[in-house]
Amino acid sequence: MCGIVGYIGNKSAKEVLLSGLKNLEYRGYDSSGLAFLQNGKIEIIKSVGKISNLEKKLESMELDDYTMGIAHTRWATHGGATLLNAHPHQVGDITLVHNGIIENVDVLKEELKHEGICFQSETDTEVIAVLLNKYLEKDVLKSINQVMNKLKGSFALGIIVKSQDHRLYVVKKDSPLVIGVGEGETFFASDITAINTYTNDFIFLDEGEIAEITKEDVIVYSNLHKVEKKVNTIHVEAQDKDKNGFEHFMLKEIYEEPSVLENTLKKYLDDFKQVPNLSKYEEIHIVACGSAMYAGMIGKTLLEEEANTKSIVEVASEYRYKKNIYNVKTLVILVSQSGETADTIAALRKAKENGQDTLAVVNVKTSTIAREADQCIFIEAGEEIAVATTKAYMLQVAVLSLLALKLSYDKKIVTDIDSYLSDFKKIPGFVKNVIDKESICQKIAKEIYRCEDVFFIGRKIDYAICLEGSLKLKEVSYIHSEAYQAGELKHGTISLIEKGTPVFGIITDKTIAEKTISNIIEVTARGAKKILITTDDLNQSMDGDLSVATINQFLQPLLIVPILQLIAYHTAKLRNCDIDKPKNLAKSVTVE
Ligand code: M6R
Repeated sequence: MCGIVGYIGNKSAKEVLLSGLKNLEYRGYDSSGLAFLQNGKIEIIKSVGKISNLEKKLESMELDDYTMGIAHTRWATHGGATLLNAHPHQVGDITLVHNGIIENVDVLKEELKHEGICFQSETDTEVIAVLLNKYLEKDVLKSINQVMNKLKGSFALGIIVKSQDHRLYVVKKDSPLVIGVGEGETFFASDITAINTYTNDFIFLDEGEIAEITKEDVIVYSNLHKVEKKVNTIHVEAQDKDKNGFEHFMLKEIYEEPSVLENTLKKYLDDFKQVPNLSKYEEIHIVACGSAMYAGMIGKTLLEEEANTKSIVEVASEYRYKKNIYNVKTLVILVSQSGETADTIAALRKAKENGQDTLAVVNVKTSTIAREADQCIFIEAGEEIAVATTKAYMLQVAVLSLLALKLSYDKKIVTDIDSYLSDFKKIPGFVKNVIDKESICQKIAKEIYRCEDVFFIGRKIDYAICLEGSLKLKEVSYIHSEAYQAGELKHGTISLIEKGTPVFGIITDKTIAEKTISNIIEVTARGAKKILITTDDLNQSMDGDLSVATINQFLQPLLIVPILQLIAYHTAKLRNCDIDKPKNLAKSVTVE
């Protein structure tokens, strides 16, 4: 999603802004741009496509003297990826960048058109610039506040006012924005990774706040009243941004799974009491988006099957708007890699407003979700650069499995806890053995990469695994793929099965294996090409394409995860896809 960076200080703003934009690239974007101000003169440079295109444009320009500016990577919402739609947008004395969506843009545009205003772009952002320019008065804060009151939706803004070349303004409402405080310089950005090479001191704005930023000072206002803000010193570990010899970050991150698992689980396995006790809750809601939600599906199955606790999983974009019934003491678990997913943040706030306890299973420690949830478990996956999640999803599943095991133990369902914990300790090694089967995954990819449709079927926990396997395949290889509960296929979807259609059968749950096998037989009878992924013990009676070690029920999904990720990876590679940055996708979905 869109990324914002801003700088005011003594350095070359071009250098700071470009390095910030590069660090925000992972969020996903399709155009970029910068604006500088000096001696009342605004320079705006924009480009469509990669930031390298923007850099090429900048090469021939004399911009090194500019020491303040704003920059943006745009992930198109209103209007395509064009130069006109790229940010910054300038209207009269106002130049700004925006992350978010203005929901009442049509109404506002209509009103402004009646006043004779012509719009240059198709964006919702231009409306903000028009309004700010229209209401601009000496008291800029008052003008910004007036415009904010007219806007519905989400907006993080970085604003240059032409007459004020020693000052920048930022606004935050429902889109992430952080201010970095340096010595004689100030930064702002959508997330701290854009600016943490320059400072470790950050101010997090709250909803609806405006900040007036100079080289020396940051003054924050809420409803036009000054508010005191805490400066948080955060040392972000240096991240390994190298592919380390791997062709893609996605592959590198899959190969990192054993070590990140070991790292994250160690702390909890050495002192199992540290895993929260959830036994006071009668019901658990797991709320998330995309892969994080599919990790939640595995968590739900384990919580219900192994810990006898009613659980629901819901997509955050639905949960935030529906009537949620909290009849009993409910824990709401939010799962998110970025911690900035707009819908998941909204679901968290809703749960809190309803007086429910919230627990975040989150990767980015400085994120909004990490800061706002009552309790956090950090999955400690390190930075995930490939847009398609792999190691973070793996750790989300591992942490949810650990929570389910702990609940089962606290409820005295699991008694031989030592044997379970000993399996958990062995899991990194098991996962490594599975990743060593990469060549078989490559072979399977060769069999499916020319197909148009792929299906994944399984029952119970195997269905939950299928959901992510299918998502991974479609997001990186662009092959249409669907996951189905194995018994459901014949209620309609089976009509799509043709000669050669690949159908993956995921079979690890022995209590239901025979049923899934029957469904596999049904599709092969109609010409489907079956690909069976199972456990070593079940494979003794079936001719599977790939099998993994048999391990306890809490951990079994973790051994299938890398296989489906590697199959998706190799399929995408054979189809020459942009694996680390699939088209249309953003790493951090900060609009709803
Ligand atoms: O940062 P989050 O975990 O909240 O992100 C949720 C989804 O947007 C994310 O998992 C998405 O589905 C990825 N494209 C999956 O690879």
